[in-house]
Amino acid sequence: MNRCSTALIAMLMLALFPAFVIAAPSAVSAIESHKHMGVASCSNSVCHGASQPFRDSNVLQNEFAIWQEFDPHAKAWQTLGSDASKAIARNLGIGDPATAKVCIDCHADSIPESMQGDRFQLSDGVGCESCHGGSELWLNAHADRSVSHADNVKNGLYPTDQPIARARLCLSCHMGTPDRMITHRIMGAGHPRLSFELDTFTWLNPHYKIGEAWVARKGEWNGVRDWAVGQGVASENLLDILTDPKAGWKGIFPELVLFDCHACHKLMSGRKWGPRQGTGLGPGVVRLNDANALMFRHVLAPVDKAAAARILEQTRALHKATTQSQDATLAAARRLRASITELLPAVAAFDYGPDSLDAILASIEADAKRGEYRDYASAEQVAMAAQSVVVAFENDGQINADQAALLRSRLDDLYATIKDENAWSVQRFNTALSALRAAAP
Ligand code: HEC
Ligand code: HEC
Ligand code: HEC
Ligand code: HEC
Repeated sequence: MNRCSTALIAMLMLALFPAFVIAAPSAVSAIESHKHMGVASCSNSVCHGASQPFRDSNVLQNEFAIWQEFDPHAKAWQTLGSDASKAIARNLGIGDPATAKVCIDCHADSIPESMQGDRFQLSDGVGCESCHGGSELWLNAHADRSVSHADNVKNGLYPTDQPIARARLCLSCHMGTPDRMITHRIMGAGHPRLSFELDTFTWLNPHYKIGEAWVARKGEWNGVRDWAVGQGVASENLLDILTDPKAGWKGIFPELVLFDCHACHKLMSGRKWGPRQGTGLGPGVVRLNDANALMFRHVLAPVDKAAAARILEQTRALHKATTQSQDATLAAARRLRASITELLPAVAAFDYGPDSLDAILASIEADAKRGEYRDYASAEQVAMAAQSVVVAFENDGQINADQAALLRSRLDDLYATIKDENAWSVQRFNTALSALRAAAP
Protein backbone atom coordinates (compact mmCIF):
# COMPACT_ATOMS: atom_id res chain seq x y z
CA MET A 1 0.00 0.00 0.00
CA ASN A 2 1.44 3.41 -0.85
CA ARG A 3 1.76 6.24 1.63
CA CYS A 4 -1.06 8.24 0.09
CA SER A 5 -3.70 5.60 0.57
CA THR A 6 -2.51 4.92 4.11
CA ALA A 7 -3.00 8.59 4.92
CA LEU A 8 -6.41 8.54 3.24
CA ILE A 9 -7.54 5.58 5.28
CA ALA A 10 -6.27 7.25 8.45
CA MET A 11 -8.25 10.37 7.60
CA LEU A 12 -11.34 8.32 6.89
CA MET A 13 -10.97 6.50 10.20
CA LEU A 14 -10.64 9.83 11.98
CA ALA A 15 -13.76 11.15 10.31
CA LEU A 16 -15.76 8.03 11.09
CA PHE A 17 -14.42 7.42 14.60
CA PRO A 18 -13.24 10.62 16.28
CA ALA A 19 -11.65 8.62 19.10
CA PHE A 20 -9.46 6.70 16.64
CA VAL A 21 -5.90 7.80 17.14
CA ILE A 22 -3.03 6.52 15.04
CA ALA A 23 -0.88 4.75 17.61
CA ALA A 24 2.56 6.32 17.91
CA PRO A 25 5.36 3.81 18.40
CA SER A 26 5.79 3.30 22.15
CA ALA A 27 8.80 4.67 24.03
CA VAL A 28 9.98 1.11 24.61
CA SER A 29 9.88 0.19 20.92
CA ALA A 30 11.70 3.43 20.00
CA ILE A 31 14.45 2.70 22.55
CA GLU A 32 14.77 -0.85 21.25
CA SER A 33 14.77 -0.06 17.54
CA HIS A 34 18.58 0.10 17.18
CA LYS A 35 21.46 -1.90 18.61
CA HIS A 36 22.66 -0.92 22.10
CA MET A 37 26.43 -0.55 22.06
CA GLY A 38 26.82 -0.51 25.87
CA VAL A 39 27.75 2.06 28.52
CA ALA A 40 31.46 1.36 27.89
CA SER A 41 30.99 2.93 24.42
CA CYS A 42 30.05 6.24 26.10
CA SER A 43 32.43 6.33 29.05
CA ASN A 44 35.80 7.10 27.43
CA SER A 45 37.46 10.05 29.21
CA VAL A 46 37.28 12.24 26.09
CA CYS A 47 33.62 11.36 25.59
CA HIS A 48 31.25 11.29 28.60
CA GLY A 49 33.69 9.79 31.09
CA ALA A 50 35.63 12.90 32.13
CA SER A 51 36.08 13.39 35.87
CA GLN A 52 35.30 17.13 35.67
CA PRO A 53 33.00 19.07 33.33
CA PHE A 54 34.70 20.24 30.11
CA ARG A 55 34.97 23.99 29.71
CA ASP A 56 34.26 24.67 26.06
CA SER A 57 31.91 21.81 25.34
CA ASN A 58 28.18 21.88 24.69
CA VAL A 59 27.69 19.17 27.28
CA LEU A 60 29.30 18.43 30.65
CA GLN A 61 31.20 15.32 29.45
CA ASN A 62 31.35 13.93 33.00
CA GLU A 63 27.86 12.38 32.61
CA PHE A 64 29.19 8.87 33.14
CA ALA A 65 30.85 9.79 36.46
CA ILE A 66 27.68 11.48 37.73
CA TRP A 67 25.48 8.58 36.62
CA GLN A 68 27.81 6.01 38.16
CA GLU A 69 28.21 7.80 41.47
CA PHE A 70 24.87 9.50 42.12
CA ASP A 71 22.19 8.05 39.88
CA PRO A 72 20.26 5.04 41.29
CA HIS A 73 19.74 3.88 37.67
CA ALA A 74 23.40 2.80 37.59
CA LYS A 75 22.73 0.40 40.48
CA ALA A 76 19.28 -0.74 39.38
CA TRP A 77 20.56 -4.17 38.33
CA GLN A 78 22.63 -4.58 41.52
CA THR A 79 19.41 -3.97 43.46
CA LEU A 80 18.18 -7.29 42.09
CA GLY A 81 20.91 -8.99 44.13
CA SER A 82 19.69 -7.51 47.42
CA ASP A 83 17.94 -9.47 50.16
CA ALA A 84 14.78 -7.47 49.48
CA SER A 85 14.82 -8.54 45.81
CA LYS A 86 15.51 -12.15 46.69
CA ALA A 87 12.55 -12.13 49.08
CA ILE A 88 10.27 -10.70 46.39
CA ALA A 89 11.48 -13.32 43.91
CA ARG A 90 10.96 -16.11 46.43
CA ASN A 91 7.40 -14.97 47.10
CA LEU A 92 6.71 -14.93 43.36
CA GLY A 93 8.54 -18.17 42.66
CA ILE A 94 10.52 -16.72 39.75
CA GLY A 95 14.05 -17.93 40.55
CA ASP A 96 16.99 -15.53 40.48
CA PRO A 97 15.66 -11.95 40.14
CA ALA A 98 18.91 -10.84 38.48
CA THR A 99 17.96 -12.84 35.39
CA ALA A 100 14.14 -12.88 35.65
CA LYS A 101 12.65 -10.97 32.73
CA VAL A 102 9.91 -9.51 34.91
CA CYS A 103 12.60 -7.74 36.98
CA ILE A 104 15.28 -6.86 34.42
CA ASP A 105 12.66 -5.28 32.15
CA CYS A 106 12.83 -2.23 34.44
CA HIS A 107 16.02 -2.76 36.44
CA ALA A 108 18.37 -3.04 33.45
CA ASP A 109 18.59 -2.32 29.75
CA SER A 110 16.46 -5.30 28.82
CA ILE A 111 16.83 -5.77 25.07
CA PRO A 112 17.04 -8.99 23.05
CA GLU A 113 20.52 -10.46 22.61
CA SER A 114 20.45 -9.78 18.87
CA MET A 115 20.28 -6.05 19.68
CA GLN A 116 23.27 -6.05 22.06
CA GLY A 117 26.62 -4.72 20.83
CA ASP A 118 30.00 -6.17 21.90
CA ARG A 119 30.38 -3.92 24.93
CA PHE A 120 26.81 -4.29 26.19
CA GLN A 121 26.48 -5.55 29.77
CA LEU A 122 23.26 -6.26 31.60
CA SER A 123 25.04 -5.39 34.86
CA ASP A 124 25.21 -1.73 33.76
CA GLY A 125 21.62 -1.47 34.90
CA VAL A 126 19.53 1.36 33.48
CA GLY A 127 22.33 2.72 31.31
CA CYS A 128 22.75 5.52 28.80
CA GLU A 129 20.92 3.74 25.99
CA SER A 130 17.96 2.75 28.20
CA CYS A 131 17.00 6.41 27.95
CA HIS A 132 18.92 7.81 24.99
CA GLY A 133 18.07 4.90 22.68
CA GLY A 134 20.25 2.41 20.83
CA SER A 135 23.30 4.30 19.55
CA GLU A 136 24.22 1.96 16.69
CA LEU A 137 23.57 4.63 14.05
CA TRP A 138 24.36 7.85 15.94
CA LEU A 139 27.30 6.88 18.18
CA ASN A 140 30.07 7.88 15.76
CA ALA A 141 28.37 10.95 14.34
CA HIS A 142 26.75 12.64 17.33
CA ALA A 143 29.87 14.35 18.77
CA ASP A 144 30.41 16.20 15.49
CA ARG A 145 29.06 19.74 15.93
CA SER A 146 27.95 19.89 12.30
CA VAL A 147 25.45 17.12 13.03
CA SER A 148 22.20 18.56 14.37
CA HIS A 149 20.12 17.21 17.23
CA ALA A 150 17.36 16.51 14.67
CA ASP A 151 19.78 14.36 12.62
CA ASN A 152 20.69 12.36 15.71
CA VAL A 153 17.02 11.87 16.56
CA LYS A 154 16.44 10.59 13.00
CA ASN A 155 19.21 8.06 13.66
CA GLY A 156 17.59 6.73 16.81
CA LEU A 157 18.61 9.16 19.59
CA TYR A 158 15.53 9.25 21.82
CA PRO A 159 14.15 12.82 22.24
CA THR A 160 14.54 13.02 26.05
CA ASP A 161 14.38 16.82 25.69
CA GLN A 162 10.72 16.63 24.57
CA PRO A 163 8.43 16.46 27.63
CA ILE A 164 5.77 14.17 26.15
CA ALA A 165 8.36 11.71 24.86
CA ARG A 166 10.36 11.91 28.10
CA ALA A 167 7.25 11.29 30.22
CA ARG A 168 6.39 8.20 28.17
CA LEU A 169 9.94 6.93 28.56
CA CYS A 170 10.17 7.41 32.33
CA LEU A 171 6.67 6.04 32.92
CA SER A 172 7.45 2.89 30.93
CA CYS A 173 9.38 1.88 34.09
CA HIS A 174 8.04 4.24 36.76
CA MET A 175 4.44 3.14 36.23
CA GLY A 176 4.78 0.27 33.75
CA THR A 177 3.03 -0.49 30.48
CA PRO A 178 0.70 -3.33 29.46
CA ASP A 179 3.80 -5.30 28.36
CA ARG A 180 6.00 -4.33 31.27
CA MET A 181 3.85 -4.48 34.32
CA ILE A 182 4.42 -4.05 37.97
CA THR A 183 1.33 -5.88 39.15
CA HIS A 184 -0.37 -5.98 42.55
CA ARG A 185 1.05 -9.53 42.82
CA ILE A 186 4.56 -8.04 42.61
CA MET A 187 3.59 -5.37 45.16
CA GLY A 188 2.12 -8.04 47.39
CA ALA A 189 5.42 -9.93 47.16
CA GLY A 190 7.12 -6.86 48.65
CA HIS A 191 7.95 -4.41 45.83
CA PRO A 192 7.78 -0.75 46.93
CA ARG A 193 4.84 1.32 45.70
CA LEU A 194 5.75 3.43 42.66
CA SER A 195 5.10 7.13 42.36
CA PHE A 196 6.39 9.56 39.77
CA GLU A 197 6.28 13.22 38.78
CA LEU A 198 8.18 14.24 35.66
CA ASP A 199 9.66 17.59 36.74
CA THR A 200 10.66 16.50 40.26
CA PHE A 201 12.17 13.22 39.09
CA THR A 202 14.02 14.82 36.16
CA TRP A 203 15.95 16.95 38.65
CA LEU A 204 16.69 14.46 41.45
CA ASN A 205 20.05 13.22 40.08
CA PRO A 206 20.74 15.20 36.90
CA HIS A 207 23.81 14.63 34.70
CA TYR A 208 22.81 17.58 32.49
CA LYS A 209 22.61 21.32 32.72
CA ILE A 210 20.05 23.43 30.92
CA GLY A 211 21.69 26.69 29.93
CA GLU A 212 21.89 28.92 26.87
CA ALA A 213 23.79 26.33 24.87
CA TRP A 214 21.15 23.72 25.58
CA VAL A 215 18.30 26.10 24.67
CA ALA A 216 20.06 27.07 21.43
CA ARG A 217 20.34 23.42 20.42
CA LYS A 218 17.09 22.03 21.78
CA GLY A 219 14.59 24.83 22.48
CA GLU A 220 12.94 26.24 25.58
CA TRP A 221 12.92 24.40 28.90
CA ASN A 222 10.13 24.93 31.42
CA GLY A 223 9.74 22.80 34.55
CA VAL A 224 6.08 23.65 35.16
CA ARG A 225 5.30 22.63 31.57
CA ASP A 226 7.06 19.32 32.26
CA TRP A 227 4.97 18.85 35.39
CA ALA A 228 1.82 19.64 33.36
CA VAL A 229 2.65 17.29 30.51
CA GLY A 230 3.72 14.57 32.95
CA GLN A 231 0.28 14.58 34.59
CA GLY A 232 -1.49 14.16 31.25
CA VAL A 233 0.81 11.38 30.03
CA ALA A 234 0.62 9.53 33.37
CA SER A 235 -3.20 9.66 33.23
CA GLU A 236 -3.12 8.30 29.68
CA ASN A 237 -0.71 5.57 30.72
CA LEU A 238 -2.91 4.35 33.57
CA LEU A 239 -5.98 4.31 31.32
CA ASP A 240 -4.03 2.39 28.64
CA ILE A 241 -3.22 -0.32 31.17
CA LEU A 242 -6.79 -0.37 32.48
CA THR A 243 -8.22 -0.80 28.98
CA ASP A 244 -5.67 -3.41 27.91
CA PRO A 245 -7.35 -6.83 27.81
CA LYS A 246 -4.35 -8.76 29.19
CA ALA A 247 -2.96 -6.23 31.67
CA GLY A 248 -6.05 -4.46 32.97
CA TRP A 249 -8.13 -7.33 34.32
CA LYS A 250 -7.31 -10.44 36.33
CA GLY A 251 -10.17 -12.90 36.73
CA ILE A 252 -13.16 -11.18 38.23
CA PHE A 253 -11.07 -8.20 39.42
CA PRO A 254 -9.44 -5.37 37.54
CA GLU A 255 -5.66 -5.12 38.13
CA LEU A 256 -5.52 -3.77 41.71
CA VAL A 257 -2.29 -1.85 41.15
CA LEU A 258 -4.35 0.71 39.22
CA PHE A 259 -6.42 1.51 42.29
CA ASP A 260 -5.67 3.71 45.25
CA CYS A 261 -3.52 1.51 47.51
CA HIS A 262 -4.77 3.12 50.70
CA ALA A 263 -8.39 2.62 49.73
CA CYS A 264 -7.80 -0.98 50.83
CA HIS A 265 -4.67 -0.80 52.93
CA LYS A 266 -5.70 1.14 55.98
CA LEU A 267 -6.54 0.49 59.56
CA MET A 268 -10.14 -0.47 60.27
CA SER A 269 -10.07 1.84 63.25
CA GLY A 270 -9.22 4.74 60.93
CA ARG A 271 -12.70 6.20 60.26
CA LYS A 272 -11.25 8.67 57.81
CA TRP A 273 -13.75 8.47 54.97
CA GLY A 274 -15.18 11.68 53.59
CA PRO A 275 -16.80 12.65 50.30
CA ARG A 276 -14.68 13.72 47.33
CA GLN A 277 -16.19 15.66 44.45
CA GLY A 278 -13.57 14.15 42.14
CA THR A 279 -14.97 10.64 42.58
CA GLY A 280 -18.58 11.19 43.56
CA LEU A 281 -18.35 7.76 45.24
CA GLY A 282 -19.89 6.87 48.59
CA PRO A 283 -18.11 5.18 51.52
CA GLY A 284 -16.73 1.65 51.30
CA VAL A 285 -15.96 1.71 47.57
CA VAL A 286 -12.54 0.86 46.13
CA ARG A 287 -11.49 3.70 43.87
CA LEU A 288 -9.14 3.96 40.90
CA ASN A 289 -5.96 5.90 41.57
CA ASP A 290 -7.03 9.21 40.03
CA ALA A 291 -4.15 11.31 41.43
CA ASN A 292 -2.81 12.21 37.98
CA ALA A 293 -6.24 12.91 36.50
CA LEU A 294 -6.95 15.13 39.51
CA MET A 295 -3.68 17.02 38.98
CA PHE A 296 -4.39 17.34 35.26
CA ARG A 297 -7.42 19.47 36.18
CA HIS A 298 -5.09 21.87 38.00
CA VAL A 299 -2.84 21.85 34.96
CA LEU A 300 -5.79 23.01 32.90
CA ALA A 301 -6.72 25.82 35.31
CA PRO A 302 -4.66 28.43 33.42
CA VAL A 303 -4.88 26.67 30.02
CA ASP A 304 -8.55 25.86 29.48
CA LYS A 305 -11.10 26.09 32.32
CA ALA A 306 -13.92 24.50 30.33
CA ALA A 307 -11.70 21.53 29.60
CA ALA A 308 -10.91 21.19 33.32
CA ALA A 309 -14.64 20.91 34.01
CA ARG A 310 -14.97 18.31 31.26
CA ILE A 311 -12.12 16.23 32.73
CA LEU A 312 -13.78 16.40 36.17
CA GLU A 313 -17.08 15.24 34.74
CA GLN A 314 -15.44 12.39 32.76
CA THR A 315 -13.33 11.28 35.74
CA ARG A 316 -16.46 11.11 37.89
CA ALA A 317 -18.18 9.14 35.13
CA LEU A 318 -15.27 6.69 35.14
CA HIS A 319 -15.40 6.26 38.92
CA LYS A 320 -19.14 5.66 38.70
CA ALA A 321 -18.68 3.16 35.86
CA THR A 322 -16.32 1.07 38.02
CA THR A 323 -19.30 0.41 40.30
CA GLN A 324 -21.42 -0.73 37.35
CA SER A 325 -19.70 -3.04 34.88
CA GLN A 326 -16.50 -3.80 33.01
CA ASP A 327 -17.99 -2.59 29.72
CA ALA A 328 -19.09 0.69 31.24
CA THR A 329 -15.63 1.13 32.81
CA LEU A 330 -13.81 0.50 29.54
CA ALA A 331 -16.06 2.92 27.65
CA ALA A 332 -15.66 5.67 30.26
CA ALA A 333 -11.90 5.12 30.40
CA ARG A 334 -11.62 5.47 26.61
CA ARG A 335 -13.65 8.68 26.66
CA LEU A 336 -11.42 10.22 29.33
CA ARG A 337 -8.29 9.01 27.52
CA ALA A 338 -9.44 10.64 24.26
CA SER A 339 -10.09 13.98 26.01
CA ILE A 340 -6.67 14.02 27.65
CA THR A 341 -4.94 13.10 24.40
CA GLU A 342 -6.76 15.89 22.60
CA LEU A 343 -5.69 18.42 25.25
CA LEU A 344 -2.02 17.42 25.55
CA PRO A 345 -0.66 19.45 22.60
CA ALA A 346 -2.17 22.67 24.02
CA VAL A 347 -0.83 21.80 27.49
CA ALA A 348 2.66 21.23 26.08
CA ALA A 349 2.60 24.45 24.02
CA PHE A 350 1.22 26.73 26.78
CA ASP A 351 3.45 29.44 28.21
CA TYR A 352 3.46 28.90 31.99
CA GLY A 353 4.28 32.45 33.05
CA PRO A 354 3.84 34.05 36.52
CA ASP A 355 0.04 34.49 36.24
CA SER A 356 -0.45 30.85 35.45
CA LEU A 357 1.56 29.79 38.51
CA ASP A 358 -0.90 31.66 40.70
CA ALA A 359 -3.86 30.11 38.86
CA ILE A 360 -2.41 26.64 39.42
CA LEU A 361 -1.80 27.22 43.14
CA ALA A 362 -5.28 28.73 43.55
CA SER A 363 -6.86 25.73 41.86
CA ILE A 364 -4.83 23.32 44.02
CA GLU A 365 -5.79 25.12 47.21
CA ALA A 366 -9.48 25.30 46.28
CA ASP A 367 -9.51 21.51 45.99
CA ALA A 368 -7.87 21.21 49.43
CA LYS A 369 -10.83 23.15 50.86
CA ARG A 370 -13.19 20.64 49.18
CA GLY A 371 -11.33 17.75 50.85
CA GLU A 372 -9.92 16.35 47.61
CA TYR A 373 -6.57 15.19 48.99
CA ARG A 374 -7.79 12.51 51.36
CA ASP A 375 -5.97 9.93 49.28
CA TYR A 376 -2.26 9.76 49.97
CA ALA A 377 -1.29 9.43 46.30
CA SER A 378 -3.02 12.76 45.58
CA ALA A 379 -1.38 14.55 48.50
CA GLU A 380 1.98 13.29 47.30
CA GLN A 381 1.31 14.64 43.79
CA VAL A 382 0.22 18.00 45.23
CA ALA A 383 3.51 18.27 47.15
CA MET A 384 5.51 17.57 43.99
CA ALA A 385 3.39 20.08 42.04
CA ALA A 386 4.06 22.69 44.72
CA GLN A 387 7.76 21.99 44.41
CA SER A 388 7.63 22.50 40.66
CA VAL A 389 5.85 25.84 41.13
CA VAL A 390 8.24 27.00 43.88
CA VAL A 391 11.24 26.29 41.64
CA ALA A 392 9.54 28.29 38.87
CA PHE A 393 9.09 31.28 41.23
CA GLU A 394 12.79 31.05 42.09
CA ASN A 395 13.82 30.84 38.44
CA ASP A 396 11.53 33.67 37.34
CA GLY A 397 13.53 35.99 39.56
CA GLN A 398 10.29 37.50 40.85
CA ILE A 399 11.03 36.87 44.50
CA ASN A 400 13.92 37.99 46.65
CA ALA A 401 16.15 35.72 48.73
CA ASP A 402 14.02 36.09 51.90
CA GLN A 403 10.80 35.20 50.08
CA ALA A 404 12.55 32.27 48.44
CA ALA A 405 13.82 30.99 51.79
CA LEU A 406 10.33 31.30 53.32
CA LEU A 407 8.74 29.43 50.40
CA ARG A 408 11.36 26.68 50.67
CA SER A 409 10.72 26.21 54.37
CA ARG A 410 6.95 26.06 53.78
CA LEU A 411 7.60 23.46 51.09
CA ASP A 412 9.70 21.42 53.54
CA ASP A 413 6.83 21.66 56.06
CA LEU A 414 4.42 20.37 53.41
CA TYR A 415 6.63 17.40 52.59
CA ALA A 416 7.09 16.69 56.32
CA THR A 417 3.32 16.13 56.70
CA ILE A 418 3.38 13.23 54.20
CA LYS A 419 6.63 11.63 55.19
CA ASP A 420 4.86 8.55 56.51
CA GLU A 421 2.16 7.23 54.19
CA ASN A 422 0.71 5.10 57.00
CA ALA A 423 0.40 7.90 59.52
CA TRP A 424 -0.39 11.25 57.99
CA SER A 425 -3.27 13.62 58.38
CA VAL A 426 -5.03 15.38 55.55
CA GLN A 427 -5.89 18.26 57.93
CA ARG A 428 -2.22 18.89 58.71
CA PHE A 429 -1.43 18.59 55.01
CA ASN A 430 -4.09 21.14 54.04
CA THR A 431 -2.89 23.57 56.72
CA ALA A 432 0.68 23.33 55.44
CA LEU A 433 -0.57 23.83 51.88
CA SER A 434 -2.44 27.02 52.82
CA ALA A 435 0.68 28.32 54.58
CA LEU A 436 2.70 27.69 51.44
CA ARG A 437 0.17 29.49 49.25
CA ALA A 438 0.18 32.45 51.66
CA ALA A 439 3.96 32.76 51.22
CA ALA A 440 3.72 32.73 47.40
CA PRO A 441 3.93 36.05 45.54
C1 HEC B 1 14.41 1.05 32.05
C2 HEC B 1 13.60 1.50 33.17
C3 HEC B 1 13.70 2.92 33.63
C4 HEC B 1 13.57 4.07 32.89
C5 HEC B 1 13.37 4.20 31.38
C6 HEC B 1 13.64 5.17 33.82
N1 HEC B 1 13.83 4.72 35.10
FE1 HEC B 1 14.11 5.82 36.76
N2 HEC B 1 14.39 4.14 37.87
C7 HEC B 1 14.27 2.86 37.39
C8 HEC B 1 14.54 1.93 38.46
C9 HEC B 1 14.51 0.41 38.36
C10 HEC B 1 14.85 2.69 39.61
C11 HEC B 1 15.23 2.17 40.99
C12 HEC B 1 16.69 1.87 41.01
C13 HEC B 1 17.12 1.19 42.28
O1 HEC B 1 17.09 1.81 43.35
O2 HEC B 1 17.48 0.01 42.19
C14 HEC B 1 14.74 4.09 39.19
C15 HEC B 1 14.98 5.17 40.03
C16 HEC B 1 14.81 6.50 39.66
C17 HEC B 1 14.99 7.61 40.54
C18 HEC B 1 15.36 7.55 42.00
C19 HEC B 1 14.09 7.52 42.79
C20 HEC B 1 14.29 7.67 44.26
O3 HEC B 1 13.35 7.30 44.98
O4 HEC B 1 15.34 8.15 44.68
C21 HEC B 1 14.72 8.75 39.81
C22 HEC B 1 14.79 10.18 40.30
C23 HEC B 1 14.36 8.33 38.49
N3 HEC B 1 14.43 6.95 38.43
C24 HEC B 1 14.01 9.20 37.46
C25 HEC B 1 13.75 8.80 36.15
C26 HEC B 1 13.45 9.70 35.07
C27 HEC B 1 13.32 11.20 35.19
C28 HEC B 1 13.31 8.93 33.95
C29 HEC B 1 13.01 9.39 32.54
C30 HEC B 1 13.92 10.37 31.98
C31 HEC B 1 13.54 7.56 34.32
N4 HEC B 1 13.78 7.51 35.67
C32 HEC B 1 13.52 6.49 33.44
C33 HEC B 1 13.96 2.48 36.11
C34 HEC B 1 13.85 3.34 35.02
C1 HEC C 1 7.57 -1.60 35.80
C2 HEC C 1 8.93 -1.52 36.21
C3 HEC C 1 9.47 -2.37 37.32
C4 HEC C 1 9.43 -3.74 37.43
C5 HEC C 1 8.75 -4.71 36.49
C6 HEC C 1 10.18 -4.06 38.61
N1 HEC C 1 10.63 -2.94 39.23
FE1 HEC C 1 11.64 -2.83 41.01
N2 HEC C 1 11.53 -0.78 40.93
C7 HEC C 1 11.07 -0.05 39.86
C8 HEC C 1 11.23 1.36 40.15
C9 HEC C 1 10.84 2.49 39.21
C10 HEC C 1 11.80 1.44 41.43
C11 HEC C 1 12.14 2.71 42.18
C12 HEC C 1 10.94 3.23 42.91
C13 HEC C 1 11.17 4.64 43.46
O1 HEC C 1 12.08 4.80 44.29
O2 HEC C 1 10.43 5.53 43.08
C14 HEC C 1 11.96 0.07 41.90
C15 HEC C 1 12.48 -0.27 43.16
C16 HEC C 1 12.75 -1.57 43.54
C17 HEC C 1 13.33 -1.94 44.81
C18 HEC C 1 13.71 -0.98 45.92
C19 HEC C 1 15.08 -0.45 45.62
C20 HEC C 1 15.62 0.45 46.67
O3 HEC C 1 16.68 1.00 46.40
O4 HEC C 1 15.01 0.61 47.72
C21 HEC C 1 13.51 -3.30 44.81
C22 HEC C 1 14.12 -4.16 45.90
C23 HEC C 1 13.01 -3.78 43.53
N3 HEC C 1 12.54 -2.71 42.80
C24 HEC C 1 13.03 -5.11 43.13
C25 HEC C 1 12.38 -5.60 42.00
C26 HEC C 1 12.26 -7.00 41.68
C27 HEC C 1 12.86 -8.14 42.47
C28 HEC C 1 11.52 -7.08 40.52
C29 HEC C 1 11.05 -8.30 39.80
C30 HEC C 1 10.13 -9.13 40.54
C31 HEC C 1 11.18 -5.71 40.15
N4 HEC C 1 11.74 -4.85 41.05
C32 HEC C 1 10.39 -5.38 39.04
C33 HEC C 1 10.52 -0.54 38.70
C34 HEC C 1 10.23 -1.88 38.46
C1 HEC D 1 17.03 7.69 33.22
C2 HEC D 1 17.28 8.19 31.90
C3 HEC D 1 18.68 8.57 31.51
C4 HEC D 1 19.83 7.82 31.61
C5 HEC D 1 20.00 6.45 32.21
C6 HEC D 1 20.89 8.61 31.02
N1 HEC D 1 20.38 9.81 30.58
FE1 HEC D 1 21.45 11.30 29.72
N2 HEC D 1 19.80 12.53 29.78
C7 HEC D 1 18.56 12.15 30.23
C8 HEC D 1 17.70 13.31 30.24
C9 HEC D 1 16.25 13.34 30.68
C10 HEC D 1 18.47 14.41 29.77
C11 HEC D 1 18.04 15.89 29.66
C12 HEC D 1 17.25 16.17 28.43
C13 HEC D 1 18.06 16.19 27.15
O1 HEC D 1 19.03 16.96 27.03
O2 HEC D 1 17.71 15.43 26.24
C14 HEC D 1 19.79 13.87 29.48
C15 HEC D 1 20.84 14.62 28.99
C16 HEC D 1 22.09 14.09 28.65
C17 HEC D 1 23.12 14.83 28.00
C18 HEC D 1 23.08 16.32 27.65
C19 HEC D 1 22.54 16.51 26.30
C20 HEC D 1 22.58 17.97 25.89
O3 HEC D 1 22.15 18.21 24.76
O4 HEC D 1 22.97 18.86 26.65
C21 HEC D 1 24.17 13.98 27.79
C22 HEC D 1 25.48 14.29 27.13
C23 HEC D 1 23.78 12.69 28.34
N3 HEC D 1 22.49 12.78 28.84
C24 HEC D 1 24.57 11.56 28.35
C25 HEC D 1 24.28 10.41 29.06
C26 HEC D 1 25.22 9.33 29.29
C27 HEC D 1 26.64 9.29 28.76
C28 HEC D 1 24.58 8.40 30.03
C29 HEC D 1 25.13 7.11 30.59
C30 HEC D 1 26.32 7.20 31.40
C31 HEC D 1 23.22 8.89 30.25
N4 HEC D 1 23.09 10.11 29.65
C32 HEC D 1 22.21 8.20 30.94
C33 HEC D 1 18.17 10.88 30.61
C34 HEC D 1 19.03 9.82 30.86
C1 HEC E 1 -8.95 -3.75 46.21
C2 HEC E 1 -8.14 -3.66 47.38
C3 HEC E 1 -6.65 -3.48 47.23
C4 HEC E 1 -6.00 -2.46 46.61
C5 HEC E 1 -6.58 -1.31 45.83
C6 HEC E 1 -4.59 -2.69 46.83
N1 HEC E 1 -4.43 -3.80 47.58
FE1 HEC E 1 -2.65 -4.58 48.23
N2 HEC E 1 -3.62 -6.17 49.01
C7 HEC E 1 -4.98 -6.38 48.97
C8 HEC E 1 -5.26 -7.71 49.43
C9 HEC E 1 -6.65 -8.34 49.52
C10 HEC E 1 -4.02 -8.30 49.79
C11 HEC E 1 -3.76 -9.68 50.32
C12 HEC E 1 -3.70 -9.65 51.78
C13 HEC E 1 -3.32 -11.01 52.31
O1 HEC E 1 -2.67 -11.78 51.61
O2 HEC E 1 -3.66 -11.28 53.43
C14 HEC E 1 -3.02 -7.29 49.52
C15 HEC E 1 -1.67 -7.44 49.77
C16 HEC E 1 -0.72 -6.45 49.61
C17 HEC E 1 0.60 -6.50 50.13
C18 HEC E 1 1.19 -7.62 50.95
C19 HEC E 1 0.83 -7.40 52.38
C20 HEC E 1 1.27 -8.50 53.26
O3 HEC E 1 0.69 -8.61 54.34
O4 HEC E 1 2.19 -9.24 52.91
C21 HEC E 1 1.23 -5.34 49.76
C22 HEC E 1 2.65 -4.92 50.06
C23 HEC E 1 0.28 -4.59 48.99
N3 HEC E 1 -0.90 -5.28 48.92
C24 HEC E 1 0.54 -3.36 48.40
C25 HEC E 1 -0.38 -2.64 47.65
C26 HEC E 1 -0.06 -1.46 46.90
C27 HEC E 1 1.31 -0.81 46.80
C28 HEC E 1 -1.22 -1.05 46.30
C29 HEC E 1 -1.44 0.13 45.38
C30 HEC E 1 -0.62 0.19 44.19
C31 HEC E 1 -2.25 -1.97 46.70
N4 HEC E 1 -1.70 -2.94 47.50
C32 HEC E 1 -3.59 -1.87 46.34
C33 HEC E 1 -5.93 -5.48 48.55
C34 HEC E 1 -5.65 -4.32 47.83
